Formats: sequence, structure tokens, C-alpha cells
Amino acid sequence: MSEPLRIVALISGNGSNLQAIIKAIQQEALPAKICAVISNNPHAPGLEHAHAAGIPTQVIDHKTFPDRLAFDTALQHAIDHFATQLVVLAGFMRILGPAFTAHYEGRMLNIHPSLLPAFTGLNTHQRALEAKIKEHGASVHFVTRELDGGPVIIQARVPILDNDTIQTLAQRVLNAEYCIYPLAIRWFAEGRLRLVQGKVMRDGLLLTAPVNYQHESSTS
Ligand code: GAR
Repeated sequence: MSEPLRIVALISGNGSNLQAIIKAIQQEALPAKICAVISNNPHAPGLEHAHAAGIPTQVIDHKTFPDRLAFDTALQHAIDHFATQLVVLAGFMRILGPAFTAHYEGRMLNIHPSLLPAFTGLNTHQRALEAKIKEHGASVHFVTRELDGGPVIIQARVPILDNDTIQTLAQRVLNAEYCIYPLAIRWFAEGRLRLVQGKVMRDGLLLTAPVNYQHESSTS
């Protein structure tokens, strides 16, 4: 048996995606070890999920740094201390600078609550409702210097219902996130996923489009 993939997860809030990843590891559906959970927000409820699972936590509060570069540098030192193989952004709500994203090129993933490239940035559910579209979803992508602009690995689609509110839609999207994020991390842990010259390679093939979760069995 090879060693489990060494992950550091970055959070800012509830950490429900973190919880889904922890659960997948506990159920032995994901050959990984979360070495640490780092939050930029000292009050992030997600820190409790880490404590409950016996995972070390660290708070690196961006407000205590003079500028973005100083924060990014401290974060990078903390992550690299754990000989981290994959950085997992799980509801991490800080923009990361170009030196940081370059340092982790090909080994940092993010989950975003929209069908990228639609609705980058914030308030995605509200904007999807206002756009009166019928479908929304979530995307897992490699992180590059472009905000929410890195190559997309997998997407899950959910319908937008007539009576949806931001909350009901957000929860439907979150439920989809809990499926696709552990799955994408598992592919990476199994050595099946790579970033090659700015493109996603899975199982030795360059993806011409993101994997569509609905069309794949969750056991693939
Ligand atoms: C998730 O919906 C995630 O996709 C989103 O924040 C939420 C975090 O929830 N991330 C972003 O918007 C990043 N741009 P969680 O803390 O319960 O996992």
C-alpha cells in the first residue's frame, strides 16, 4: 500500500465540504490524510469539524498581516511545513496572489458553487436565480492565478426550481459539492489526475470538457 496523499485544507467558514472530505477518508473512500486545517477566520465553524476528527488546526488571520503578500507567505510556510502534496480550498474566501498560486500549480484544488465559467466570484446562487436559468451547479478546478478561472475537472449540475430561494438552491448545490469534491481528490490521490500545460489530464487523457458527474458512476 502506498502512503496516503498528504492534504492541507484551507477554510474560511462552515467547513461542510471539509466534513464531506473527512467522511470520505474515514469511510476509506479516499486514500488521503488531512495533515492540517488552516483557517484565515478565527471564528470559522469548520475548525470544530477538524477538532472533532482529531486534525490539527491553525488560524492564520489575514487581518493581522500588513498586505496580501505577507499573508500568502505565512500561509505558504505553514502549508509546506506538512510536506503537503495537495492543497484543498474548501470554502476559502481569500484571493491568493500569483506567487502563491504558481508555487502550488498542479497541486491545489478549489470548489466553486457554479457551473464555471458562469458566475465566477461571489453570490453565485443569487445571480443564478436572477438570471432565470434552469440549471446551476458546482465545479472542482485546479487553481491558477485567474480567480475561479483554472481548468475545470468535474462539474455537477442541479436544477433550479420555480420556488427556489438562495438558501434552498445553495443547499442543493452543496449536496452536489459533497459528491464531486471527494471524488476529484480521490482521482488526484490515486495519481489519475494531473495538470499538464494548463489542461486537465485524467487517466492519461486530456479532458476536452469537464467530467459531468451525472454521466459518471460515483464509483469511477
Ligand atoms: C461552498 O459552497 C463552496 O463552493 C463555496 O463556499 C461554500 C463553502 O461551504 N466556495 C466559494 O464560493 C469559493 N469561491 P462550506 O464552508 O460549508 O464548505
